[in-house]
Formats: sequence, structure tokens, C-alpha cells
Amino acid sequence: KDITIIGVPLDLGAGRRGVDMGPSAIRYANVKERLENAGYHVKDLGNLYVPTPETYTIENPKLKYLKEVKKVNEELANQVKRIIEEGRFPLVLGGDHSIAIGTIAGVSSHYPNMGVIWFDAHGDINTPETSPTGNIHGMPLAVSLGKGHIDLVNILNFSPKIKPENIVIIGARDLDKGEREFIKTNGIRVYTMHEIDRIGMAKVMEETIHYLKDKTDGVHLSFDLDCLDPNDAPGVGTPVTGGVTYREGHLAMEMIAEANFLISAEFVEVNPILDVRNRTAEIAVGLMASAFGEKLL
Ligand code: ARG
Ligand code: MN
Ligand code: MN
Ligand code: MN
Repeated sequence: KDITIIGVPLDLGAGRRGVDMGPSAIRYANVKERLENAGYHVKDLGNLYVPTPETYTIENPKLKYLKEVKKVNEELANQVKRIIEEGRFPLVLGGDHSIAIGTIAGVSSHYPNMGVIWFDAHGDINTPETSPTGNIHGMPLAVSLGKGHIDLVNILNFSPKIKPENIVIIGARDLDKGEREFIKTNGIRVYTMHEIDRIGMAKVMEETIHYLKDKTDGVHLSFDLDCLDPNDAPGVGTPVTGGVTYREGHLAMEMIAEANFLISAEFVEVNPILDVRNRTAEIAVGLMASAFGEKLL
């Protein structure tokens, strides 16, 4: 399948500046060439327009930059929808993780029974009521499940976008109190670092693939680079110690490629300001190549 890349230089959903430069850093790491070498036709649409935080004021501290985040995600949802209509594979470059709201909306309009694999140190399943920060990048999974501010939940005029039983979160190690309750009441499958240590990434991915393969009509990969250990990937907005290693990340992507069920993907939260010589963006590109089936031999 042919791939269409779209960049979303958004950091309004995050607590600090920097992830708006993620798409540039990932392009600098040669994402297009790498995927072409893996055998794909790749078209890069460039970046969506995103407003600059300094020119806006925070109206509601429980939902920071709600209007602007909503607008960008609406635009992204329409673009992703159109890319799928063209029969192409949308690959979205972030930007903060709030862009999953738009990506998932666009994908779900074609695949109402879509699955989601969510690699993240965090749950990103807060509501405005449970969020300790008011940063919308901590809310996209809840929004996609129909919980949160109506303006976000109703993007593309339908809700919910995904079902709780079609979601797997992998790599979690920083969950807020309200997120833990949300996960338990909704029966969402989570592999925390404990399970990864205990049974290994191979088993985690086997189970995840088995869990999603037959019951969904395709799977969206949402990869927050902060799921990786900050020693491997220091260039992220909200690092948390004790994460997925570089090798575990690659194994997971290779197993996803073998499963052959991806319909869309996004790589988010790359923060070049905090990075070391663009290492995190380079890792992101390597992971993408593996997820798309790049082989050593
Ligand atoms: N749980 C925290 C919050 O709600 C952190 C979220 C971090 N999310 C991310 N996409 N990096 O603000
Ligand atoms: Mn995230
Ligand atoms: Mn995260
Ligand atoms: Mn937290």
C-alpha cells in the first residue's frame, strides 16, 4: 500500500514547547527515503497549519487551548479520512499526542470497528475532571471513547470512535488516579512495564495481536516515543524512567508488521530541544520502518 505522510506541528496539547518541531526532526532523519527503501511509494503532504501558543491565551486551565486543539484535530480528521478514501495509508507525524483525537476520528469514519495499539508511558485517558494538568495530550483515548469535552468528542459528528475492548495500551508506568479507575471500569487491556518485565515483549505482542486480530477491522498504531526508556530516547516532552528498550520497541514493531493488520499509524511527542543529536527522531524512523516490514535479510 502507498503511504501518505502528514505532519502536525502541534504543542498546544502539551505542557511545554518543543514537540511542535517533531515533524521536522523526523523528516531530517530521512523518513521518506527509509520507507521508500522498504518498498513503498511515499507522498509527503507537509504540515498542517498550527497556531503559535504565544499568540493565544489559555481560556480554561482544565482544557488548555481547547479551541485551537479542536480546530487542528478537525482538520487532521478530514485529511486522514481523505487519505484513506484515496486508498492510501496515513502516517501522521506529531506533535503532541492530542493529535490522536483527529487521526482516530478520520480512521474510524472508515473503520467503525477499528482497534488501537497505544504505546505510551502514560494512559492519556484523562477527562477534564481527572486531569492533573489540563493538558489535552493526556486526554485523547478518553475523548475517542466518547468521554470529555463535547467539542473534542464530536469531531466529524459521531461518537464514540473506538470501543474499550478494541484498545491495548503498552508500556504504561505513569497513570493518574482517575485514569486507573477509567481503565478498570471500562475493562481496557493494559500491559504495564510490570507485565513487559515479567512475560517479555514477545509474549505481550503475541497476546495483543491475538486479542485484536479477528475482532477488529484493522488496527491503528499510536506510538508515543515516551514509552521508550529515556536513556534510549531522551527527546520527549514528558520522560518517565524505566521504559521499553530500543530492542523491545523494534521487536514489537516487527511483530506488528508480521500481523499485517495496520490501517494507520502516528508517531508523536518527539521533542528535539531535549534530544541528543536527533537520536529520538532517528529511533522513531527506525521503528516506523520495522512496523512497515523493513527486513535485515
Ligand atoms: N497524565 C499526565 C497528564 O494528564 C501526563 C500525560 C502525558 N501525555 C503524553 N501524551 N505525553 O497531563
Ligand atoms: Mn501519549
Ligand atoms: Mn506519554
Ligand atoms: Mn501523571
